[in-house]
Amino acid sequence: MLTTLSILKADVGSIGGHVTPGKRLLDTISRHVAKGLDELLSDYFVGATGDDIAILMVHPRGVGDEEIHRLAWEAFKEGTALAHAQGLYGAGQDLLVDAFSGNVKGMGPAVAEMEFEERPNEPFLMFMADKTEPGAYNLPLYLAFADPMNTAGLLLSPEITKGFRFTVMDVGYVQGDRIIELTTPEGLYDLAALLRDNDRFVVEAIHSRHDGEQAAVVSTTRLHNIAGKYTGKDDPVMLVRVQKNFPATGEILAPYAIAHYVGGFMRGSHIGPLMPVTRSTGCSYFDGPPIVSCLGFCVKNGKLTEATDLFAHPFWDTVRTRAAEKAIEIRRQGFSGPAMLPYSELEYGGIVHILKRLEARFHVRPAAHPAEAVLA
Ligand code: F6R
Ligand code: MG
Ligand code: MG
Repeated sequence: MLTTLSILKADVGSIGGHVTPGKRLLDTISRHVAKGLDELLSDYFVGATGDDIAILMVHPRGVGDEEIHRLAWEAFKEGTALAHAQGLYGAGQDLLVDAFSGNVKGMGPAVAEMEFEERPNEPFLMFMADKTEPGAYNLPLYLAFADPMNTAGLLLSPEITKGFRFTVMDVGYVQGDRIIELTTPEGLYDLAALLRDNDRFVVEAIHSRHDGEQAAVVSTTRLHNIAGKYTGKDDPVMLVRVQKNFPATGEILAPYAIAHYVGGFMRGSHIGPLMPVTRSTGCSYFDGPPIVSCLGFCVKNGKLTEATDLFAHPFWDTVRTRAAEKAIEIRRQGFSGPAMLPYSELEYGGIVHILKRLEARFHVRPAAHPAEAVLA
């Protein structure tokens, strides 16, 4: 049967700063989504990472379905009302428009959806990241789907040795979805050349070249592009189908042991290591560090199993310690050089105002030697 998995994710308010949404807010959103059971949904799951809430919905209606999007939008609206009543910080932050108009894309919440024919057993992973951007998944996806140093299956498994097709979006382009498709292994260097720039070129989807099936989908739109002004990093969600004709769960997870540096962190304006965390983890140090959670599920005839928390395994404690050390290390240099993002990626405009104000005070010193003046 054809099944669609849709994740819609938004920050509609949190406790203690941009930290965590709280149980009442999660319950309110969950209760609203439950109203769609039977008529629209076969199953759903509501989870949180950092200050964001993600609604995972299972249904047969395909991607971009208006009623599915409306259900999530209204759940977030109801959550926003509670957030205002509770005095939560940033209530309704990611709902950028007042009225729903057919599809939440462009309205604030992040969206990642895929439709597929259920395999006889269908394991998949749901990733949620906070205090970072969609390009944070570039490196882990590249390693998991294209590098045999990470993914032994690229050498050992006949289903995946044919490689994968990556759809990459230029998120710097604002007039529409500017995308390119690259196939691996032959397009490996081209892919690496693009994925170098996490803030510009972002993996949106990955398909198997063995059977054409979709393996992964990432929420690739950026809040500051669709909103016309920078309202925050997009705190991306991702779905990845695993095993058999796709990389194994462990191959998808292995790259997160790097705790690679990504954009985001305090005020969406810094570089920090991506720390793999357990479900419902909030933010703390320097409003971060950037975090990612991963829940594993199986789906059968549209029904989900319970979630298994993949970064709860003791192995990841060592990675978390290393990530904390990397975070402290880069924070030691404060605003200097690569610790802070370039102007184009700063979430706050204050520094631009400072520069504008100082512009008038700059002057060009007269050249000491006439020759210097000639050269100039
Ligand atoms: C980053 C984030 C936080 C806030 C910071 C300032 O994405 O959510 O780091 O940017 O806490 O928040 P405001 O400006 O709301 O006081
Ligand atoms: Mg937030
Ligand atoms: Mg967030």
